[in-house]
Amino acid sequence: MKIGILTGGGDCPGLNSVIRAVTRKALNEGDEVLGIKYGWKGLLEKDCVKLDLDSVSGILPKGGTVLGTSRTNPYKKENGQQIVKENFYDLNLDALIAVGGEDTLGVATKLYKEGLNIVGVPKTIDNDLSATDFTFGFDTAVNIVTECIDRLHTTAESHNRIMVVEVMGRHAGWIATYAGIAGGADFILIPEIPIDIEEVCNSIISRHKRGKNFSIIVVAEGAVFKNKALFVQEEKRDEFGHIRLGGIGQALGKIIEDKTGFETRVTVLGHIQRGGTPSAFDRVLATRFGVKAYELVKEKRFGRMVALRGNKIIDVWLEEATGELKRVDLALYEIAKIFFG
Ligand code: F6P
Repeated sequence: MKIGILTGGGDCPGLNSVIRAVTRKALNEGDEVLGIKYGWKGLLEKDCVKLDLDSVSGILPKGGTVLGTSRTNPYKKENGQQIVKENFYDLNLDALIAVGGEDTLGVATKLYKEGLNIVGVPKTIDNDLSATDFTFGFDTAVNIVTECIDRLHTTAESHNRIMVVEVMGRHAGWIATYAGIAGGADFILIPEIPIDIEEVCNSIISRHKRGKNFSIIVVAEGAVFKNKALFVQEEKRDEFGHIRLGGIGQALGKIIEDKTGFETRVTVLGHIQRGGTPSAFDRVLATRFGVKAYELVKEKRFGRMVALRGNKIIDVWLEEATGELKRVDLALYEIAKIFFG
Protein backbone atom coordinates (compact mmCIF):
# COMPACT_ATOMS: atom_id res chain seq x y z
CA MET A 1 0.00 0.00 0.00
CA LYS A 2 1.04 3.59 -0.50
CA ILE A 3 -0.09 5.75 2.40
CA GLY A 4 0.05 9.53 2.45
CA ILE A 5 0.30 11.51 5.69
CA LEU A 6 -0.19 15.23 6.25
CA THR A 7 -0.25 17.58 9.24
CA GLY A 8 -2.54 20.64 8.99
CA GLY A 9 -3.61 23.66 11.05
CA GLY A 10 -1.68 25.06 14.01
CA ASP A 11 1.26 22.84 14.90
CA CYS A 12 1.59 21.16 18.27
CA PRO A 13 4.09 18.99 20.11
CA GLY A 14 3.66 15.32 19.23
CA LEU A 15 3.07 15.65 15.46
CA ASN A 16 6.47 14.14 14.72
CA SER A 17 5.72 11.22 17.04
CA VAL A 18 2.67 10.37 14.88
CA ILE A 19 4.63 10.71 11.64
CA ARG A 20 7.32 8.43 13.04
CA ALA A 21 4.82 5.85 14.35
CA VAL A 22 2.88 5.64 11.06
CA THR A 23 6.10 5.38 9.05
CA ARG A 24 7.82 2.80 11.27
CA LYS A 25 4.73 0.60 11.47
CA ALA A 26 4.04 0.85 7.72
CA LEU A 27 7.65 0.10 6.77
CA ASN A 28 7.63 -2.90 9.13
CA GLU A 29 4.59 -4.20 7.25
CA GLY A 30 6.18 -3.59 3.82
CA ASP A 31 4.10 -0.51 2.94
CA GLU A 32 5.23 2.82 1.53
CA VAL A 33 4.68 6.23 3.16
CA LEU A 34 4.52 9.57 1.39
CA GLY A 35 4.78 12.72 3.51
CA ILE A 36 2.59 15.53 2.15
CA LYS A 37 4.15 18.92 2.90
CA TYR A 38 2.28 21.82 4.54
CA GLY A 39 -1.09 20.17 5.09
CA TRP A 40 -3.70 20.36 2.31
CA LYS A 41 -1.42 22.82 0.48
CA GLY A 42 0.94 19.94 -0.31
CA LEU A 43 -1.85 17.89 -1.80
CA LEU A 44 -2.97 20.85 -3.93
CA GLU A 45 0.58 21.31 -5.20
CA LYS A 46 1.81 17.71 -5.13
CA ASP A 47 4.55 18.79 -2.73
CA CYS A 48 5.60 15.49 -1.16
CA VAL A 49 8.51 13.59 0.25
CA LYS A 50 9.01 9.86 0.58
CA LEU A 51 9.40 8.87 4.23
CA ASP A 52 11.93 6.19 5.12
CA LEU A 53 13.71 5.06 8.25
CA ASP A 54 16.25 7.86 7.98
CA SER A 55 13.68 10.61 7.56
CA VAL A 56 11.90 9.70 10.81
CA SER A 57 15.02 8.94 12.81
CA GLY A 58 15.51 11.31 15.76
CA ILE A 59 12.23 13.17 15.33
CA LEU A 60 10.33 11.70 18.32
CA PRO A 61 11.32 14.44 20.81
CA LYS A 62 11.20 17.28 18.26
CA GLY A 63 8.42 19.86 18.50
CA GLY A 64 6.58 21.15 15.42
CA THR A 65 6.22 18.95 12.35
CA VAL A 66 8.92 17.84 9.93
CA LEU A 67 6.28 17.91 7.19
CA GLY A 68 5.39 21.55 7.81
CA THR A 69 1.83 22.76 8.19
CA SER A 70 -0.53 25.44 6.91
CA ARG A 71 -4.08 26.61 7.36
CA THR A 72 -4.88 25.95 3.68
CA ASN A 73 -8.49 25.06 2.95
CA PRO A 74 -8.89 23.35 -0.45
CA TYR A 75 -12.59 24.25 -0.41
CA LYS A 76 -11.60 27.93 -0.54
CA LYS A 77 -9.49 27.47 -3.72
CA GLU A 78 -10.85 27.38 -7.23
CA ASN A 79 -11.49 23.69 -8.04
CA GLY A 80 -9.56 22.94 -4.85
CA GLN A 81 -11.32 19.73 -3.89
CA GLN A 82 -11.13 18.47 -7.49
CA ILE A 83 -7.37 19.14 -7.62
CA VAL A 84 -6.85 17.41 -4.29
CA LYS A 85 -8.75 14.35 -5.54
CA GLU A 86 -6.86 14.22 -8.85
CA ASN A 87 -3.52 14.55 -7.10
CA PHE A 88 -4.45 11.83 -4.60
CA TYR A 89 -4.88 9.41 -7.52
CA ASP A 90 -1.91 10.80 -9.53
CA LEU A 91 0.32 10.11 -6.56
CA ASN A 92 -1.02 6.54 -6.47
CA LEU A 93 -2.13 6.90 -2.89
CA ASP A 94 -4.23 4.08 -1.46
CA ALA A 95 -5.08 6.09 1.62
CA LEU A 96 -4.35 9.33 3.43
CA ILE A 97 -3.82 9.90 7.14
CA ALA A 98 -4.78 13.48 8.03
CA VAL A 99 -3.46 14.73 11.34
CA GLY A 100 -5.22 17.87 12.49
CA GLY A 101 -7.78 19.73 14.52
CA GLU A 102 -11.33 20.85 13.72
CA ASP A 103 -10.39 22.52 10.42
CA THR A 104 -8.08 19.89 8.90
CA LEU A 105 -10.37 17.07 10.00
CA GLY A 106 -13.41 19.00 8.77
CA VAL A 107 -11.86 18.98 5.29
CA ALA A 108 -10.96 15.29 5.74
CA THR A 109 -14.61 14.54 6.58
CA LYS A 110 -15.85 16.23 3.41
CA LEU A 111 -13.24 14.59 1.18
CA TYR A 112 -14.04 11.19 2.66
CA LYS A 113 -17.72 11.75 1.83
CA GLU A 114 -16.64 12.59 -1.70
CA GLY A 115 -14.89 9.24 -2.00
CA LEU A 116 -11.30 9.59 -0.74
CA ASN A 117 -9.84 6.94 1.57
CA ILE A 118 -9.03 9.00 4.64
CA VAL A 119 -8.35 8.30 8.30
CA GLY A 120 -8.02 11.11 10.87
CA VAL A 121 -5.75 11.67 13.85
CA PRO A 122 -6.81 14.38 16.36
CA LYS A 123 -4.27 16.97 17.44
CA THR A 124 -4.52 20.38 19.06
CA ILE A 125 -3.16 22.01 22.17
CA ASP A 126 -6.71 23.32 22.72
CA ASN A 127 -8.15 19.82 23.43
CA ASP A 128 -11.46 20.99 21.97
CA LEU A 129 -12.16 18.09 19.60
CA SER A 130 -15.16 15.97 20.45
CA ALA A 131 -15.12 12.17 20.56
CA THR A 132 -11.69 11.91 22.16
CA ASP A 133 -10.91 12.42 25.84
CA PHE A 134 -7.63 14.11 24.94
CA THR A 135 -5.82 15.33 21.86
CA PHE A 136 -2.04 15.15 21.90
CA GLY A 137 -0.28 18.50 22.32
CA PHE A 138 -2.62 19.47 25.14
CA ASP A 139 -0.63 17.83 27.93
CA THR A 140 2.57 19.54 26.78
CA ALA A 141 0.85 22.93 26.61
CA VAL A 142 -0.62 22.45 30.09
CA ASN A 143 2.82 21.60 31.47
CA ILE A 144 4.36 24.68 29.86
CA VAL A 145 1.63 26.97 31.21
CA THR A 146 1.84 25.38 34.67
CA GLU A 147 5.56 26.02 34.80
CA CYS A 148 4.98 29.64 33.72
CA ILE A 149 2.34 30.11 36.44
CA ASP A 150 4.78 28.70 39.02
CA ARG A 151 7.37 31.24 37.89
CA LEU A 152 4.86 34.09 37.95
CA HIS A 153 3.82 33.05 41.45
CA THR A 154 7.23 33.75 42.96
CA THR A 155 7.60 37.19 41.40
CA ALA A 156 3.95 38.06 42.17
CA GLU A 157 4.55 37.20 45.82
CA SER A 158 7.76 39.26 46.04
CA HIS A 159 6.06 42.36 44.64
CA ASN A 160 2.55 41.99 46.07
CA ARG A 161 1.16 42.03 42.55
CA ILE A 162 -1.73 40.62 40.61
CA MET A 163 -0.49 38.60 37.63
CA VAL A 164 -2.87 38.09 34.73
CA VAL A 165 -1.79 35.21 32.46
CA GLU A 166 -3.39 35.03 29.01
CA VAL A 167 -3.32 31.56 27.48
CA MET A 168 -4.54 30.03 24.21
CA GLY A 169 -7.99 28.57 23.75
CA ARG A 170 -10.21 30.37 21.34
CA HIS A 171 -13.42 28.39 21.79
CA ALA A 172 -12.72 26.33 24.89
CA GLY A 173 -10.84 26.96 28.11
CA TRP A 174 -9.20 23.56 28.59
CA ILE A 175 -5.64 24.88 28.89
CA ALA A 176 -6.73 27.65 31.27
CA THR A 177 -8.70 25.24 33.45
CA TYR A 178 -6.11 22.45 33.64
CA ALA A 179 -3.06 24.69 34.02
CA GLY A 180 -5.01 26.95 36.37
CA ILE A 181 -5.82 24.02 38.66
CA ALA A 182 -2.26 22.68 38.41
CA GLY A 183 -0.71 26.09 39.04
CA GLY A 184 -3.06 27.09 41.86
CA ALA A 185 -4.72 29.99 40.02
CA ASP A 186 -6.81 32.33 42.15
CA PHE A 187 -9.32 32.84 39.33
CA ILE A 188 -9.72 31.17 35.94
CA LEU A 189 -11.65 32.79 33.10
CA ILE A 190 -12.75 30.72 30.12
CA PRO A 191 -14.81 31.22 26.95
CA GLU A 192 -17.57 28.98 28.31
CA ILE A 193 -18.46 31.41 31.13
CA PRO A 194 -18.74 35.18 30.48
CA ILE A 195 -16.56 37.24 32.81
CA ASP A 196 -18.28 38.86 35.77
CA ILE A 197 -15.67 41.50 36.59
CA GLU A 198 -17.25 42.40 39.94
CA GLU A 199 -16.98 38.78 41.03
CA VAL A 200 -13.31 38.62 39.97
CA CYS A 201 -12.37 41.84 41.75
CA ASN A 202 -14.33 41.02 44.92
CA SER A 203 -12.61 37.66 45.04
CA ILE A 204 -9.17 39.31 44.76
CA ILE A 205 -10.08 41.88 47.42
CA SER A 206 -11.28 39.21 49.86
CA ARG A 207 -8.08 37.25 49.22
CA HIS A 208 -6.02 40.31 50.09
CA LYS A 209 -8.12 40.82 53.23
CA ARG A 210 -7.00 37.43 54.46
CA GLY A 211 -3.39 38.47 54.03
CA LYS A 212 -2.63 37.17 50.53
CA ASN A 213 -1.21 40.22 48.79
CA PHE A 214 -0.75 38.63 45.39
CA SER A 215 -3.05 36.78 43.00
CA ILE A 216 -2.76 34.77 39.79
CA ILE A 217 -5.57 35.16 37.29
CA VAL A 218 -5.54 32.83 34.27
CA VAL A 219 -7.59 33.92 31.28
CA ALA A 220 -8.17 32.11 27.98
CA GLU A 221 -7.82 34.29 24.87
CA GLY A 222 -11.42 33.51 23.89
CA ALA A 223 -12.97 34.63 27.20
CA VAL A 224 -15.41 37.54 26.98
CA PHE A 225 -16.89 40.06 29.38
CA LYS A 226 -20.62 39.70 29.93
CA ASN A 227 -22.52 40.98 26.85
CA LYS A 228 -19.26 42.05 25.16
CA ALA A 229 -17.44 40.91 22.03
CA LEU A 230 -14.26 38.85 21.69
CA PHE A 231 -10.88 40.60 21.90
CA VAL A 232 -9.42 40.48 18.43
CA GLN A 233 -5.85 41.12 17.31
CA GLU A 234 -6.53 40.98 13.61
CA GLU A 235 -9.93 41.12 11.91
CA LYS A 236 -8.68 39.35 8.76
CA ARG A 237 -10.04 35.82 8.70
CA ASP A 238 -8.01 32.77 7.74
CA GLU A 239 -9.30 30.26 5.16
CA PHE A 240 -11.38 28.57 7.84
CA GLY A 241 -12.99 31.81 8.95
CA HIS A 242 -11.00 32.33 12.16
CA ILE A 243 -9.91 35.75 13.37
CA ARG A 244 -6.74 36.16 15.47
CA LEU A 245 -7.65 36.59 19.11
CA GLY A 246 -5.70 38.39 21.80
CA GLY A 247 -5.97 41.37 24.11
CA ILE A 248 -8.31 40.11 26.81
CA GLY A 249 -5.38 39.85 29.26
CA GLN A 250 -4.38 43.51 28.89
CA ALA A 251 -7.97 44.72 29.14
CA LEU A 252 -8.61 42.58 32.20
CA GLY A 253 -5.37 43.67 33.88
CA LYS A 254 -6.26 47.34 33.48
CA ILE A 255 -9.78 46.91 34.88
CA ILE A 256 -8.53 44.86 37.83
CA GLU A 257 -5.88 47.46 38.70
CA ASP A 258 -8.38 50.31 38.38
CA LYS A 259 -11.06 48.59 40.43
CA THR A 260 -8.94 47.01 43.17
CA GLY A 261 -6.06 49.49 43.35
CA PHE A 262 -3.58 46.57 43.38
CA GLU A 263 -0.60 46.73 41.05
CA THR A 264 -1.20 44.40 38.13
CA ARG A 265 0.99 42.92 35.40
CA VAL A 266 -0.02 40.94 32.33
CA THR A 267 1.80 38.06 30.63
CA VAL A 268 0.64 36.70 27.28
CA LEU A 269 2.08 33.24 26.74
CA GLY A 270 1.12 32.95 23.05
CA HIS A 271 2.99 30.49 20.86
CA ILE A 272 5.37 29.48 23.67
CA GLN A 273 2.53 27.07 24.49
CA ARG A 274 2.82 25.33 21.12
CA GLY A 275 6.58 25.10 20.87
CA GLY A 276 9.25 22.71 22.04
CA THR A 277 9.52 19.08 22.89
CA PRO A 278 6.38 16.99 23.60
CA SER A 279 5.74 15.62 27.08
CA ALA A 280 6.13 11.87 27.61
CA PHE A 281 2.31 11.59 27.77
CA ASP A 282 1.93 13.27 24.37
CA ARG A 283 4.71 11.17 22.81
CA VAL A 284 3.01 7.98 23.95
CA LEU A 285 -0.49 9.14 22.95
CA ALA A 286 0.69 10.31 19.53
CA THR A 287 2.56 7.03 18.98
CA ARG A 288 -0.53 4.98 19.89
CA PHE A 289 -2.68 7.18 17.61
CA GLY A 290 -0.23 6.72 14.72
CA VAL A 291 -0.14 2.94 15.02
CA LYS A 292 -3.94 2.75 15.29
CA ALA A 293 -4.38 5.05 12.26
CA TYR A 294 -2.17 2.73 10.23
CA GLU A 295 -4.24 -0.27 11.38
CA LEU A 296 -7.48 1.44 10.32
CA VAL A 297 -5.99 2.05 6.88
CA LYS A 298 -4.96 -1.61 6.58
CA GLU A 299 -8.47 -2.69 7.60
CA LYS A 300 -9.86 -0.21 5.03
CA ARG A 301 -11.95 1.45 7.72
CA PHE A 302 -11.98 4.87 6.14
CA GLY A 303 -13.83 7.93 7.40
CA ARG A 304 -12.75 7.00 10.91
CA MET A 305 -10.68 8.95 13.43
CA VAL A 306 -8.55 7.47 16.19
CA ALA A 307 -9.52 8.59 19.68
CA LEU A 308 -8.68 8.11 23.34
CA ARG A 309 -11.48 6.84 25.58
CA GLY A 310 -10.36 6.19 29.13
CA ASN A 311 -7.03 4.52 28.51
CA LYS A 312 -8.11 2.75 25.32
CA ILE A 313 -7.43 3.83 21.78
CA ILE A 314 -10.65 3.46 19.84
CA ASP A 315 -11.98 4.78 16.54
CA VAL A 316 -15.00 6.94 15.80
CA TRP A 317 -16.55 8.51 12.71
CA LEU A 318 -14.65 11.61 11.65
CA GLU A 319 -17.93 13.47 11.67
CA GLU A 320 -18.43 12.79 15.38
CA ALA A 321 -15.20 14.64 16.12
CA THR A 322 -15.80 17.62 13.89
CA GLY A 323 -19.55 18.17 14.30
CA GLU A 324 -19.37 20.04 17.57
CA LEU A 325 -16.50 21.42 19.67
CA LYS A 326 -15.78 19.93 23.06
CA ARG A 327 -16.20 22.59 25.74
CA VAL A 328 -14.80 22.50 29.26
CA ASP A 329 -16.59 20.10 31.55
CA LEU A 330 -18.27 22.44 34.04
CA ALA A 331 -17.89 19.86 36.82
CA LEU A 332 -14.13 20.28 36.44
CA TYR A 333 -14.52 24.05 36.56
CA GLU A 334 -16.44 23.67 39.82
CA ILE A 335 -13.37 21.94 41.26
CA ALA A 336 -11.18 24.84 40.10
CA LYS A 337 -13.61 27.30 41.76
CA ILE A 338 -13.02 25.79 45.20
CA PHE A 339 -9.61 27.47 45.14
CA PHE A 340 -10.68 30.90 43.87
CA GLY A 341 -10.21 33.86 46.19
O1 F6P B 1 -5.94 26.12 17.38
C1 F6P B 1 -4.76 26.17 18.09
C2 F6P B 1 -4.36 27.58 18.38
O2 F6P B 1 -3.15 27.49 19.08
C3 F6P B 1 -5.39 28.43 19.14
O3 F6P B 1 -5.41 28.20 20.52
C4 F6P B 1 -4.95 29.82 18.77
O4 F6P B 1 -6.01 30.73 18.86
C5 F6P B 1 -4.51 29.65 17.37
O5 F6P B 1 -4.12 28.32 17.19
C6 F6P B 1 -3.37 30.56 16.96
O6 F6P B 1 -3.15 30.41 15.61
P1 F6P B 1 -1.88 30.95 14.81
O7 F6P B 1 -0.74 30.02 15.08
O8 F6P B 1 -2.31 30.89 13.39
O9 F6P B 1 -1.59 32.31 15.32
